[in-house]
Amino acid sequence: IIAAFQPKLLAGRRVLLTAGPTFEPIDPVRGITNLSSGKMGYALARAAREAGAEVVLVSGPTALDAPYGVRRIDVRTAQQMHDAVFANVSGQDIFIAVAAVADWRVANVSDQKLKKTADDDSLQLSFEQNADILADVAALPKRPYCVGFAAESENLEQYGAAKRVKKNIPLLVGNIGHQTFGKNENALTLFDDKGHTSLPRADKQTLARQLVREIAHRLTQTVA
Ligand code: CTP
Ligand code: CA
Repeated sequence: IIAAFQPKLLAGRRVLLTAGPTFEPIDPVRGITNLSSGKMGYALARAAREAGAEVVLVSGPTALDAPYGVRRIDVRTAQQMHDAVFANVSGQDIFIAVAAVADWRVANVSDQKLKKTADDDSLQLSFEQNADILADVAALPKRPYCVGFAAESENLEQYGAAKRVKKNIPLLVGNIGHQTFGKNENALTLFDDKGHTSLPRADKQTLARQLVREIAHRLTQTVA
């Protein structure tokens, strides 16, 4: 009841997000993916919509339903995710890159299903690097307010601060990979130009609402 009388923090704003894993094919029936469930990205899309924003969610393969009122664009590969983001980035106020994007794709994708052979017990895959969607959006001349995510396995404070600077973004949200992938709860560390602060362990929808408040607050302080 009280929520209905609170100001909508992102009213009139347009928010673009990526979420979930990507899937990089090896052959027509196999591929390489990762353990991202999409839960944090979907929770953030829902929270942004609740806060009054017009929300577009570019999603890799997940088992989740699109949040109410959110336009979802389904993609599979990192290249498709890059294309979908760039087809929709113009006019966005905020870009939140939550997806666990594959850093590499298989260079020698087979047209046919790979078959086992009796005399060959090893398989050689070669890889080429995927474009960095977040870095490319952050390099646009009229860029939206860019928020990145980083799942690290250790040294979060050091890696998070360094990654924010390297990606040239105002806000980077860090978490520990094995504490978040597939889980309903998480804990976040926010890195900005002033240092870092923590959002303690909570369910992802609660964290998403807190994060939307943090982003909305910083957006009003940012001179374009
Ligand atoms: N990201 C992206 N496109 C990529 C890779 C990453 O948009 N091709 C985004 C992610 O969505 C995330 C941020 O970049 O918001 C950081 O991703 P991360 O994998 O932690 O960073 P990398 O620069 O890929 O570094 P690392 O070598 O640690 O994987
Ligand atoms: Ca990466």
